[in-house]
Amino acid sequence: MAILDIIIAPDPRLKITAKPVKKVDASVRRLMDDMLETMHSARGIGLAAPQVGDKRRVIVVDVAGEDEAPNPIRMANPELLWTSDEERVHEEGCLSLPEQYAEVVRPDRIRVRYLDYRNEIRELETDGVLATCIQHEMDHLDGVLFVDHVSALKRRMILRKLQKAKKLAALENA
Ligand code: NI
Repeated sequence: MAILDIIIAPDPRLKITAKPVKKVDASVRRLMDDMLETMHSARGIGLAAPQVGDKRRVIVVDVAGEDEAPNPIRMANPELLWTSDEERVHEEGCLSLPEQYAEVVRPDRIRVRYLDYRNEIRELETDGVLATCIQHEMDHLDGVLFVDHVSALKRRMILRKLQKAKKLAALENA
C-alpha cells in the first residue's frame, strides 16, 4: 500500500466529474487500499478518488472512533437509491480543506448501492455520521465540496483562507 498526496482546495482537479469503473479489478482494489491508508494516516473519516488525483468513482469511509475497531468501507460507483425527508446537521470538515469546518444539512438516512471490493453489488441503508460521510464523499465524485452547501459568503471566506495558506506554503518551499 502507499500513502498518496491529498489535493488541497481550491484546485480544478477537485471540480471534475469522476467516471464509473467498469469492474472492481486489481487496479481499483489497489486504489481503494491506498486511499484507506492515506485517509487513516491523515486521521480522516472519508476520502474520494478525485482528492488523490484519480478520476474513478471510488470512495472509502471509516467512521469508527479512536477506541473502536476499524470499520473500513470501500465503494465503487456509489449511487443513492433513496434519501429520507428527515435531515441532519453536521459540522463537516474535509482533508482537502484542512482546518476548515462548516455546518451542512443533508438527509439523515440514505440507501446506497455500490460495487464492493469483490466487485459484488451491495446495498447499505444507514443514518447518522456514516450517512453524512458517504454523501460528502459521493459529492466529491461530482466535483462538489462541502463548502458548496453553505452560503456564498462563508464559502468565499474559507476558500480565501486556503488560498492564502497555499501561497504561504509555496513561499516557504521556494
Ligand atoms: Ni471531503
